[in-house]
This record gives sequence, C-alpha cells and structure tokens, in this order.
Amino acid sequence: RRLARAVSIDDVEAMARRRVPGAVWDYVHSGSDAEIAMARNREAFERVELRPTVFGAVATPDLTTTMLGRPAASPFVLAPTGYTRLSHHTGECAVAAAAADAGVPYTLSTYATTSIPDLAAAAPGGRNWYQLYLMRDRGVSLAHLEQARVHGYEAVMLTVDTVVTGMKRKDRRNGFAIPPELTPRTLAGLARHPGWVGGILTSEPLRFATFPEGSEHARWGVSNALREQAIRPEDIAWVKERSGLPVVVKGVLTTQDARVAVDAGADAVVLSNHGGRQLDRAPVPIELLPEVVDALGDRAEVYVDSGVRSGGDAAAALAMGARGVLVGRPYLYGLMLGGRRGVDAVLEILRSELERTMCLLGVPDVGSLGPQHVRLRGDS
Ligand code: FNR
Repeated sequence: RRLARAVSIDDVEAMARRRVPGAVWDYVHSGSDAEIAMARNREAFERVELRPTVFGAVATPDLTTTMLGRPAASPFVLAPTGYTRLSHHTGECAVAAAAADAGVPYTLSTYATTSIPDLAAAAPGGRNWYQLYLMRDRGVSLAHLEQARVHGYEAVMLTVDTVVTGMKRKDRRNGFAIPPELTPRTLAGLARHPGWVGGILTSEPLRFATFPEGSEHARWGVSNALREQAIRPEDIAWVKERSGLPVVVKGVLTTQDARVAVDAGADAVVLSNHGGRQLDRAPVPIELLPEVVDALGDRAEVYVDSGVRSGGDAAAALAMGARGVLVGRPYLYGLMLGGRRGVDAVLEILRSELERTMCLLGVPDVGSLGPQHVRLRGDS
C-alpha cells in the first residue's frame, strides 16, 4: 500500500527517509564537502529541455537496447553502492534479484555487504557486473577478478575517482561507523526504527563481504590505506587481461581522461562524479556527455550517472549519446522503503517514465533518440 502511493522517485525518497535511522539516511543521501557537485547534478538535469518530433510517435516505444554487446530490457544499470545492507538487511541480494527480473545489469561493489558468490546465487539469470576498487595488494584484487569471472559476472567496472574517500560532513558529525558508535543520539535513532534494527540483528553481521572474513580488508575504517591510490592507465589493461572480461572505467570527468582510458583498453567509460560524493565542484557528467561521445565515436560505449531521478533524465542522457544510465541512490531509497518490492517499484517508475517520455518525444526506440531531442536551456 505504501509503495502504491509512491508515484515518483522523489516520493520514494521522502517516504524512505522515515524508514531508517538518521545516520544511515545521512550516509546514503549526502554528498561530499559543501555538496556543490551534488546540487549541480540536479540543476543540470532541470535545465534540460526535451524537444519532441511528433510525427515519429508510437504508442509503445521499444526500450530494449544492448550494453557491452548484450541485450537489456531497458538502458538502466544499477550502480555499485557500498554497505547496501545498511539500507535494508536484504541488501545486495534483493537489489540484484529485482534487476534480474527487470532485465537490467546490477553492479556489485567491492565494499558490498554480500560476497561475490552469494550475490551470484541470489540472482540467477541476472546480468551482474563487478565494481573493482583496485587494492595495493594486487593479490586481493586478483582474487576478486577470479571470483567475478568464475561466478558469471559479465564485466568489471573499475572505479578511478576514489583516491581517498570523499568527506561527508554529516557522517563525521554523526560519528558514522560500523558497528555504530553507541552514543545517546545513535541509540535514540536505533530505538525509533525497531523494524530496521530487527532485520540487521537477525541477519549476517555487516562487513565488507567480498574480502575473507577476519582479514584486514574486511574491517571498517581502513579502506583508504589499502586501496591503490595511484591508478595508472596500465592498470586498466591489467584488469582486462586478468579478468578476461570487458572493462568499464567509472569516474572519468574529462574528454582527455576518457581517451586515455579507451587507449588503455577500456570497453566503456562512465562519466560520473560519484553522485557528488567525491571531488566537490567536480564537472557535471551530463554536461560533458556530448563532447565525450563525440571524441570517442564508436571506440567505446559511454555511460553516465549522478543525479538521474526520472525517466525524463534518462531520456536526456540517451539523447545526448549515452549507451546507458546508472542510478545509485534511487534504488537504495526503494530498498529502504520496501526491500525487494521497493526496488521493483523504483525500477518500474523509471521504466514507465522513460517509456512515456519517449512516446511523447515521438521516438519509436532507444536508438532513435538523438541530439535533436535535447537542449540545455541557457546554452546558446
Ligand atoms: C556510491 N557509489 C559508489 N561507487 C563505486 O564505484 N563504488 C562504491 O562502493 C560506491 N558506493 C556508494 C555508496 C552510496 C551510499 C552511494 C549513494 C553511492 C557511487 C555510485 O556508484 C554512483 O556513481 C552514484 O550513486 C550515482 O549518483 P546517484 O544516482 O546516487 O545520484
């Protein structure tokens, strides 16, 4: 019933906020530093004007596409998020199962709270991608790549924008940690959310589950020192060779870096400012998109994320040349609100909005969306 009342991602967001302790909400919702990049992501999407070509309209446009050479039911991809089981105890497994049913890829984070094999088992028939944070200890990363390959993951998404973790001021003020610091405030927050607490207490303990239990890497709070902090183009080739899988480089924010990534062997790039959670004042991915698509041509697929909150936003990105659109927080809000069903609801909202937008734009299929359908207001 709750879910039926949520007719937009904004509704899901507003309703989700009440379902989890404040510190969990702040962790998911926040951007880094002054949150300028996060605000600009939304401002840019709001500046988009969609321009219909009415004489091409069909009642039910075809949303299917291909991503990394394989078919998908629609051009959405679920972005990697750390600690997904904080949003709801069913976590990554619920999200991946929803993605599998919706026919879109799901990306498991290196900082997932579900292991690589467990996730694969929870979403049979799903298109899973694995997001790699390269570790200084390459043996640890090799084990991840090996597991991803063995368990049928289709691609490796190498994230390159997290040399250090961005500073979320609210996390610092909240003393956000796992397990939580038990202060009067956090205890009060937990007491107000018995459903959330009950779920967490009756399921597996929260930890970085892609690493062996008890290992240094599985511990909270040591991640910066263990990650590779000087990623080089050669690392892209290394990931590709060792995994035998297509490599998607995530977190590129200039045309020059996109070219370097593709020259080094990337099959795709994701223009992303990490949802405004890393470099504050970073460029806005959607504004860079036409230039990068133009520079790469047919050499690599270009994906975009950061601030996508509707099918209309997705239509804009596709019209500007994106092969697919990643969403992060929207599915976490759905997960908070209703577990697996909440993620289903979010994916259905996005799918139906994109379908309706394409219908009103007068495009019969995803491939027909083009630069003629979009303009950023305020640009000449
Ligand atoms: C993220 N993101 C992320 N990216 C990544 O490569 N590895 C990770 O572990 C995480 N963790 C993570 C946690 C949380 C709570 C959020 C919200 C995001 C970034 C994510 O993949 C994606 O780039 C953004 O979420 C996209 O922006 P929107 O859709 O959240 O606005």
